[in-house]
Amino acid sequence: MSLTLGEVADLDMPDKYILGISAFYHDSAACLLRNTEIIAAAQEERFTRKKGDARFPQNAVEFCLEEGDVAVDELAGVGFYDKPLLKFERILETYLGVVPRGFSSFLMAGPLWIKDKLYIDRQLRDSLKYSGELLYAEHHESHAASAFFPSPFESAAILTIDGVGEWATASIGIGRGNEIEILDELHWPDSLGLLYSAFTYYTGFKVNSGEYKVMGLAPYGEPKYVDTIYAELVDLREDGSFRLNQKYFNYLTGLTMTNGEFDKLMGGPPREPESRLTQREMDLARSIQVVCEEIMLRMAKTAHRKTGLDNLCLAGGVALNCVGNGRVLREGPFKHLWIQPAAGDAGGAIGVAQLVAYRHFSMPRTTGNFKDSMKGAYLGPSFTPDEIEQFLTSTGASYQRLDGEARPDRVAELLANEKIVGWFDGRMEFGPRALGARSILGGPRSPRMQADMDIKIKFREGFRPFAPAVLRERVSDYFELDTDSPYMLLVAPVREDRRIPLTADQHKLWGIDKLNVPRSDLPAITHIDYSARVQTVTRDTNAGYYDLIKAFEGLTGCAVLVNTSFNVRGEPIVCTPADAYRCFMRTNIDYLVLGPFLLDKATQPTRKETEEWRSEFQLD
Ligand SMILES: [Fe+2]
Repeated sequence: MSLTLGEVADLDMPDKYILGISAFYHDSAACLLRNTEIIAAAQEERFTRKKGDARFPQNAVEFCLEEGDVAVDELAGVGFYDKPLLKFERILETYLGVVPRGFSSFLMAGPLWIKDKLYIDRQLRDSLKYSGELLYAEHHESHAASAFFPSPFESAAILTIDGVGEWATASIGIGRGNEIEILDELHWPDSLGLLYSAFTYYTGFKVNSGEYKVMGLAPYGEPKYVDTIYAELVDLREDGSFRLNQKYFNYLTGLTMTNGEFDKLMGGPPREPESRLTQREMDLARSIQVVCEEIMLRMAKTAHRKTGLDNLCLAGGVALNCVGNGRVLREGPFKHLWIQPAAGDAGGAIGVAQLVAYRHFSMPRTTGNFKDSMKGAYLGPSFTPDEIEQFLTSTGASYQRLDGEARPDRVAELLANEKIVGWFDGRMEFGPRALGARSILGGPRSPRMQADMDIKIKFREGFRPFAPAVLRERVSDYFELDTDSPYMLLVAPVREDRRIPLTADQHKLWGIDKLNVPRSDLPAITHIDYSARVQTVTRDTNAGYYDLIKAFEGLTGCAVLVNTSFNVRGEPIVCTPADAYRCFMRTNIDYLVLGPFLLDKATQPTRKETEEWRSEFQLD
């Protein structure tokens, strides 16, 4: 069964509830619409506490249905974010084309596909206990829908770029009103996502999550390998399409991304994960980032030429490359850019649900006031003050309640005194970034803050600075940017008059040591190339967060906070008050805000006393 144009919806009919599901690859998720309104969306990993959980999103589905107060048999339709049979065809053809070389990875991947993925229809129905309408969209259509339908634009060009779906690895499309159309596709095995992942693997990071680290490492390096990449690996055309020379890659035939030929070309084997980073990895990271940005820019130009429109919507895993996005905005041909915050496969759940609403049920779409319909990405679970207090009492935690202005005033004072604060407030974010609902916050002016947060909280040796959250109306006082960036998906330069140039001696410092040299009057958020991953905050999407930054500004004159995700390394972002309290107690976070409650680490029960609640909440 495939997604086709359906009959025109009768507007006098009762509300239609539509469930979108993305699953079985990585980062499973569910999304619920009431007609076209996004009621709820969440990733399964947040509930199971298994990062990137790819299983059927049972918990996320249950949460969405509960949030919409709707039963499974009341759903008007369920959409799945890709077409398993087409994907299987691609996998089968790939392996048949390379047998016997590809046999080892076929044995690894094949049975999994046959067991889980080919029978998705039955599996979805069994897991959901659902017998109604089940619709499938193509993977890149789901990404394109997630990019355009929630955007503030009446019409826009759409660009999706990722690893691979069924066959497509990138697509250019057009959205108008309640319709989207894919105009052009780039096909497997030529994939920008997989090319970037190949370098992620080769520089010793984890494929599918370490790409962000490669991007963060790039400013430390020189683009030494760019010529080699163009000469040997990537045959790039003017329109942004390209061919990858498969002689150097192993993802068709083996279980790694790159092969011995790649090692010879780049002068050595891949870096062992967790081993020391060297200048070579930094140069490789810089080189692939330069190539990635060039391809993104060329694809954007082609999308502009094909559509003649001024607005661009982006999605797909590569759209999480916020450095590339910033260049597309500054140097590309489009006037306005909107990026789906859940640009990776989790966002496919939103995309397919909206396709069911707009295409299958032909629901009307309205836009206006340059506001998107993602609700700030605050689409996940929330907890009432009563629920939080019940938890706090049951754990024996020490806390005080702060109502009204007392909360922003007190927390701003703590932040001004360089305390680190866990901030848990309202509905959890959908997508990979923490945006002020499940965040760890600090003051940006202290030269020590970045190292403190990295080592004491995140338990990592960081080479990436943290992201700034800034009042929307003050963004251009700090950054060379005067546009909304609510989802931290744009990188912009720190204003020139805030920068501190390096001295001759500091220039000689090696790689990561440079990070400890303050680069601006906001050192904790300024990267060594003077860039920052900006989140703009408005009161209408997150009043509590806005009021806190405003109070901090009142005390210090600075309208910026340091924001990082509320989790430790390797753990999904916290979801519940129990997750947040556990993370607070295990790290050196000084204070914890749970809704209206403030917890001081110094007055919490000791480790020994917490034994009881640790077992009660099945911690460790
Ligand atoms: Fe994808």
